[in-house]
Amino acid sequence: MTDTTKDRVLIFDTTLRDGEQSPGATMTHDEKLEIAELLDEMGVDIIEAGFPIASEGDFRAVSEIAERSKNSTICGLARAQLPDIDRCWEAVKHAASPRIHTFIGTSPLHRAIPNLSMDEMADRIHQTVTHARNLCDNVQWSPMDATRTEWDYLCRVVEIAIKAGATTINIPDTVGYTAPRESADLIKRLIETVPGADEVVFATHCHNDLGMATANALAAVEGGARQIECTINGLGERAGNTALEEVVMALKVRGDIMPFYTEIDTTKIMHISRRVSTVSGFPVQFNKAIVGKNAFAHESGIHQDGMLKNKETFEIMRPEDVGIAGTSLPLGKHSGRAALRAKLKDLGYDVGDNQLKDIFVRFKELADRKKEVFDDDVIALVSATADGGDHLQLVNLKVTCGTGGPATAEIEMDVDGKEMAAESRGDGPVDAAFKAVRKVYPNSARLQLYQVNAVTEGTDAQATVSVRLEEDGMIATGQSADTDTVVASVRAYIAALNRLMVRRGKTGKDVKEISYKDVH
Ligand code: KIV
Ligand code: ZN
Repeated sequence: MTDTTKDRVLIFDTTLRDGEQSPGATMTHDEKLEIAELLDEMGVDIIEAGFPIASEGDFRAVSEIAERSKNSTICGLARAQLPDIDRCWEAVKHAASPRIHTFIGTSPLHRAIPNLSMDEMADRIHQTVTHARNLCDNVQWSPMDATRTEWDYLCRVVEIAIKAGATTINIPDTVGYTAPRESADLIKRLIETVPGADEVVFATHCHNDLGMATANALAAVEGGARQIECTINGLGERAGNTALEEVVMALKVRGDIMPFYTEIDTTKIMHISRRVSTVSGFPVQFNKAIVGKNAFAHESGIHQDGMLKNKETFEIMRPEDVGIAGTSLPLGKHSGRAALRAKLKDLGYDVGDNQLKDIFVRFKELADRKKEVFDDDVIALVSATADGGDHLQLVNLKVTCGTGGPATAEIEMDVDGKEMAAESRGDGPVDAAFKAVRKVYPNSARLQLYQVNAVTEGTDAQATVSVRLEEDGMIATGQSADTDTVVASVRAYIAALNRLMVRRGKTGKDVKEISYKDVH
């Protein structure tokens, strides 16, 4: 029930715009739609779905998210240029509740880029916000790098934007430069000083360069901001943005000293965090607040003893509150399809029959090798089978490695129905196996990231492997999980190659026959 003694803070999620902008975090069209649906279901007030003028793909994603949204306002970003704003409106206008977000850099460093004088920029702001407001009733305006903009000029441009019809004024800390007290003061003084400020919503948008994004956003709320801009897992440019899960849980847990609330269904946090991590290829650090693997784990004897006697000794929130299922029984090799489907449902995954079939096959293979299949193992299997196209598939892999000499790999692959094989040597088994894949499918993709994590404990734990590839400026990620790290690595590599192929409109038919057993 809504607490009327508290003020509501709107949650503006920009995972699909600022988050997706972070190098390597590009998502496919379908993934964007899926994340938008999850954000909508969890109660996000405003979803910034993309930057429609940036590309045809961004335009399509924002339009489709706008058409499908049920509850959230759908927002698109536009620079302070009329064609940008028109394009943004074309994309968001399909939403039941659309918003145009237009911005311009107002600090001295940012004014120098378009080489505009203070007066010229003020005129541009007036013209572009007026134009946006003529198209849409709901207009957000941001002075980019506000925290390094001269105070008098900031007041002047905020006033112009309000007079031109902006309904939300966002104050970005674009380079993560501010600190909590300053963040609170800035918003408070703007609201006290600028004529008309009491008629608009003030928003805070903090980057995390000094690790203060969450503290700065909460301080801005204390200063009078009523909209927090944030991303799932804190994804975003450089060190990222304010993490949605952190501000939402901080307001929930410390409502005693911060009299504010949000309408977020916090039990959906964990699931969306995992999905964003999978589709962006950005793993969540183990000790990340709220959503890290260790956030609710208690290792030391004293902590474990305290937890057994009274959970509140070391837990300030319950795992269930953020959607971590309580202790649940692991699955085993006798578990059937119905048990797997029920487990997936418990974990928040609603998979179609075909995907369930694939996951079940992988699950049975895993259960044959591993006594108990834990929740994290199941989640890793879902992520691994959700990887788009399947032009290239791994059929067989044999590696030799050890102290005696170079590692070798023999691989058999299915390339759009054609069986192909190759052998290679390498500097370790993963290198040998990747080289063998490149012989089957020659490509110039550059490996940007190769990362291995153990999903559960023990030497039979599954390894999840993330691979990020770049080819001609296009980036694709792949993930896979297996108790065999080399197999997981090759599957992740192939998943990333498949995604690159899909994006480039290529198929396996472009692959020429190669000679078998071509050892280097
Ligand atoms: O960080 C920033 O200033 C932004 C703006 C576009 C709002 O992301
Ligand atoms: Zn930003």
